[in-house]
Amino acid sequence: MSAKSINVLGLETSCDETAAAIVRLTPDGGPSGLRGEILSNVVLSQIDLHAPYGGVVPELAARAHIDHLDRLVANALEEADCRLQDMDAIAATAGPGLIGGVLIGLTTGKALALASGTPFFAINHLEGHALTARLTHGVAFPYLLLLVSGGHCQLCRVDGVGDYTLLGTTRDDAVGEAFDKAAKLLGLGYPGGPEIEARAMHGDARRFVLPRPLIGHHDSGCDFSFSGLKTALRQRAVDLQPISAEDICDLAAGFQAAITDCLVDRCRRAMEKFADTTDAPAPASSKRLVVAGGVAANQHLKHALEDAAHRAGFTLSVPPPALCTDNGAMIAWAGAERYHAGCAGDADLDAPARARWPLSEKIF
Ligand code: KG4
Ligand code: ZN
Repeated sequence: MSAKSINVLGLETSCDETAAAIVRLTPDGGPSGLRGEILSNVVLSQIDLHAPYGGVVPELAARAHIDHLDRLVANALEEADCRLQDMDAIAATAGPGLIGGVLIGLTTGKALALASGTPFFAINHLEGHALTARLTHGVAFPYLLLLVSGGHCQLCRVDGVGDYTLLGTTRDDAVGEAFDKAAKLLGLGYPGGPEIEARAMHGDARRFVLPRPLIGHHDSGCDFSFSGLKTALRQRAVDLQPISAEDICDLAAGFQAAITDCLVDRCRRAMEKFADTTDAPAPASSKRLVVAGGVAANQHLKHALEDAAHRAGFTLSVPPPALCTDNGAMIAWAGAERYHAGCAGDADLDAPARARWPLSEKIF
């Protein structure tokens, strides 16, 4: 366990953002016992590269990561006014994600660590999302986590670094994927979440009441399902042809409302479970629901979850939108937490790149 501040360089290349960041972790009391600072956070989005295809093209993503990562690392060091030698550790995403991209960040991170004689941490991208609220809000363990991104949709209990218990997951699409597919279906741009949210703001959610899959199914635990909702949206859009701008806004509002209701319902169940499984009766202030991943940037969802959390006696913590979507700071912070917790990084130099890597599965 380290008592001094530690600086960590983090690299993220698992999808369509090339990112490098430097964070500082200082052990200083507070609810989590740690203070986090972002010294630099450089993100290069590949949205324009993939937009014409309506989704991420893995080979193009990997090539773009190769072209830009070195420069972004240099920028991150410069912005933080640091040298590589000032880093106490280097962390890179080792999965889950698009394997070509993961390989580039992981190999770059290992090479920088070996060349500078710095400890290396191979990070699960989902752990990066899961721990971000400790960097931004100093949240203490344990907490309930709703992880909603382009590739993932899960509810889990977080009891410590590397200590995650899955409470529910999606049976088909991830929620961000559902937003992206819905947007494509309505002729909107990529990524779909922000497009749907912007149209929904001008739409009437009551005009098209779409299904809320699994709500009311008591044997479904905290699982999610979105594919039926997507099919229902497609059917409504087909029935409306030719579709007007007003129809699109109303459909987007109806879709967003249905997704929000599903997520709120599952979170309500998970909050009940969390309260039942927490050993000591926790004071109200310590019951916390954290939302992470790209979809957490959705303000309509955030307000609905705020209300549900309040009713259940929980506090809601959502990192700012730029730290909800993929970034290097979340990977650097996960590395800093692992370093601080005394997790040895030596074996991480042998870590393979992984396309799939469930959060509840221990490291390699
Ligand atoms: O976490 P993230 O940046 O990448 C993954 O690890 O997947 O999440 C990207 C996902 C995309 O599916 C995108 O449509 C969704 O997050 N997203 C949103 C919003 N902003 C991004 N979904 C709904 N509302 C938003 N405002
Ligand atoms: Zn992500």
